Amino acid sequence: MNSNAGLVIRQAQVLTPEGELQRLDVQTEGHRILRLADHLPAVLPGVREIPAQGLTLLPGVIDPQVHFREPGLEHKEDLFTASCACARGGVTSFLEMPNTRPLTTDQAALEDKLARAAAKSLVNYGFFIGATADNLAVLNSCGPTPGIKIFMGSMHGPLLVDQDQTLEGVFAQGRRLIAVHAEDQARIAQRRQALADVYHPELHSLIQDNEAALLATKKVLALSHRYQRRLHILHLSTADEAELLYQDKPAWVTAEVTPQHLLLDTTAYNYLGSLAQMNPPLRRPRDRAVLWQALLEGIIDFIATDHAPHTLEEKALPYPQSPSGMPGVETSLPLMLTQAVQGHCRLSQVAHWMSRAPALAYGIPNKGLVTPGYDADLVLVDLEHYYPVRPQDLQTKCGWSPFTGWNLTGWPVVTVVGGQVAWDQGRVDPTVRGRPLSFNPRE
Ligand code: DOR
Repeated sequence: MNSNAGLVIRQAQVLTPEGELQRLDVQTEGHRILRLADHLPAVLPGVREIPAQGLTLLPGVIDPQVHFREPGLEHKEDLFTASCACARGGVTSFLEMPNTRPLTTDQAALEDKLARAAAKSLVNYGFFIGATADNLAVLNSCGPTPGIKIFMGSMHGPLLVDQDQTLEGVFAQGRRLIAVHAEDQARIAQRRQALADVYHPELHSLIQDNEAALLATKKVLALSHRYQRRLHILHLSTADEAELLYQDKPAWVTAEVTPQHLLLDTTAYNYLGSLAQMNPPLRRPRDRAVLWQALLEGIIDFIATDHAPHTLEEKALPYPQSPSGMPGVETSLPLMLTQAVQGHCRLSQVAHWMSRAPALAYGIPNKGLVTPGYDADLVLVDLEHYYPVRPQDLQTKCGWSPFTGWNLTGWPVVTVVGGQVAWDQGRVDPTVRGRPLSFNPRE
């Protein structure tokens, strides 16, 4: 049981706000970071000491795009199991999407999710409000929420916003951040008909092709210009869209990429089959290379997992009945830290992309840095050893990962949420609870 009286994490390599590693002691009090010093004095009774020599202390990860399935689809995942997976993965805050049952399209559904998370989530939480053709009137008044989610494609039912008039209506009204899943539904429908008699999951990347993504991203970029509206492009997946943003990326537009789109490509269908199926789909090796470059050069702002669990039974259905989506919250940080250790990027960039940049983009106060006064959302990782992704270690209810067998470094040893130890050397503390996030976004 966590008393939350305070922690002293001793002699970790701490990533400072300047992006440097320094060997320091870090003390927390309540849910905040109290102080950092070369050596802090012996602590008072009740304060827990965590010896951390040889480990690295980073700000907790904010995963700004997840699908946690509660309410309504709890056979795939729920807020407890998903947040346990977060704790294992060093994810201390998440922003969750509205395609649950009922859909999160009004204040009552939003409040229901907030109440469920307060009761069950080990980590901090926020929930998007989904746009439909009928809820324009409430989109800018519901809250608290990080923003409005629009599915332009790859969605069924009321959350599919594939009519230009509805789309423009959302941009024209209000000032709230709009986060877009940018795939053009008309293009997808047309490609599906043209390729109707092929039945391999690889087909997915041909039907929902680069052009489908580019068409949609172009459209929302134009709307964002017209209405000077804060736009976030979710899971950018193609070289074509990145090249578009190199030409035209206004200051009020941000974009994210998933570890899947950075680290996997269409060759993954050969060994993963429909486990590799997600929306937007995996792309070709060239897309991956351009996405990496765009991330390194700041055209892409941050990383999200799009954690979208489905059961293995569901995934085993023949394409196209097999659902799209992969889990991600418990592997994203080690995947990216392994990239850093292997020299593809810097440790400080990983922390920026996974903690600080999403906090800034969504205006989440006091998060994403290890500094006094900030929230004690912290992750202590081991960058010395490698350990493989194994199904039996997974906390996600779906029980599988597209990265099974990958040998990774940077696994969380301890994850701290608001000063409480949620993950401790291989064990979740199921009594820990996160808090609702607040949002003061730039417009
Ligand atoms: O692959 C995906 N699966 N992409 C999405 O945008 C939705 C998600 C899901 O909810 O399964």
